[in-house]
Amino acid sequence: MPTTYDMILKGGTLVNQNGVGMGDLGITNGTIAAIGDLAQASAGQTVDCRGLHLLPGVIDTQVHFREPGATHKEDLESGSRAAVMGGVTAVFEMPNTDPLTTSAAALEDKLARAASRMHCDHAFWVGGTHDNVADLAELERLPGAAGIKVFMGSSTGSLMVPDDAGVEAILRATRRRAAFHSEDEFMLRAQAGWRVPGDPSSHPVWRSVAAALSSTHRLVAIARRCGARIHVLHVSTAEEIEFLKDHKDLASIEVTPHHLTLEDADYARLGTLIQMNPPVRAVRHRDALWAGLAQGIADILGSDHAPHTRDEKAKVYPESPSGMTGVQTLVPIMLDHVHHGRLSLQRFVDMTSAGPARLFGIACKGRMAVGYDADVTVVDLKRRVTIEDKWIASRSNWTPYAGREVTGWPVGTIVRGRTVMWQDELQTAGQGAPVRFTESLPR
Ligand code: DOR
Repeated sequence: MPTTYDMILKGGTLVNQNGVGMGDLGITNGTIAAIGDLAQASAGQTVDCRGLHLLPGVIDTQVHFREPGATHKEDLESGSRAAVMGGVTAVFEMPNTDPLTTSAAALEDKLARAASRMHCDHAFWVGGTHDNVADLAELERLPGAAGIKVFMGSSTGSLMVPDDAGVEAILRATRRRAAFHSEDEFMLRAQAGWRVPGDPSSHPVWRSVAAALSSTHRLVAIARRCGARIHVLHVSTAEEIEFLKDHKDLASIEVTPHHLTLEDADYARLGTLIQMNPPVRAVRHRDALWAGLAQGIADILGSDHAPHTRDEKAKVYPESPSGMTGVQTLVPIMLDHVHHGRLSLQRFVDMTSAGPARLFGIACKGRMAVGYDADVTVVDLKRRVTIEDKWIASRSNWTPYAGREVTGWPVGTIVRGRTVMWQDELQTAGQGAPVRFTESLPR
């Protein structure tokens, strides 16, 4: 074992696969080289982490960064800056951009745009459509591809496969775990009249529990027929948790900080700012998501960072777009839940590092282990901060959590051994790289 490292993170509390305990982390060439007591070792740089907790880098597997096509809302630089300011070391970005990410050329374009601009590591979901089914087997294996994402219900952008035959064709064509926005488009169309103009609290009435459940029932039945693995994004209802718990062999579940934190009563105060698809719902659903999290039914957390500008959100419902920023607030909001005893820090790590690595076969990320990428989210569990809009680095520079005091804060973001954020300051220019996957390592 070498006794000299590029960097030693010294004296922090490591939250890792073998439990929680004091230890030093030795990093060389962007890789974890040693874990333990490194008191005798030397390093180019030693960072004093006493009083801080070191987590495996937080991976947010659902963000919308809007480039190309809507860069007035966000771009790959600003979105990834928001990510690292919030302690996130890697993101999977969604394909509902313009043009859509539905071809090898569009994926290559995103990777080229990301190079030397994105601050965190990244992969891009490729959209599954009726038109690109024949290409999906190849597309899902391309370097930088996170897998295939399918919208079964309409949201921002034009990507959509609402019908069973279309979903089945995609699941037969793919081998990796595909991700689904599961709301029944046919029901959403039939129920469109349930929206009350000017009243965003009618959003969950329109995008009903039954619409989410119907879509998820259909999706699971198709996946079962095809023997396919599926990932159900942003699960928002008690009924889906209850149903999906019996299909864990094929279905993984994402829950979001906003569905775990907000409730329908908040529409009165926050209006269209919390208009999301699927919607923020009644407290019984939030309680069921927490119960699902406690029982291990929910696998991972994703922010569904979906920025729109304040002006766009100020339109009168239902002209207002659905989505809110979230990549930067994921860690502080969830650490505050840890502080209040709603989940353990180990469970948070399970859902933001180990979980994504397990579900999507991420190579060398998701745990702090020798030989793995030196991705570390450094947090101060005692720091109390009031979240403010001015802290938000997204081009859509607002958050529904403005004014909320949280206990627990990301104080350092280390990506492959480089300190990208420290104590709320960006430290380097963008040097993010594509995430690698065990299912599609280059041959
Ligand atoms: O509210 C949402 N907004 N949900 C989605 O699934 C898409 C997103 C967006 O891209 O704006």
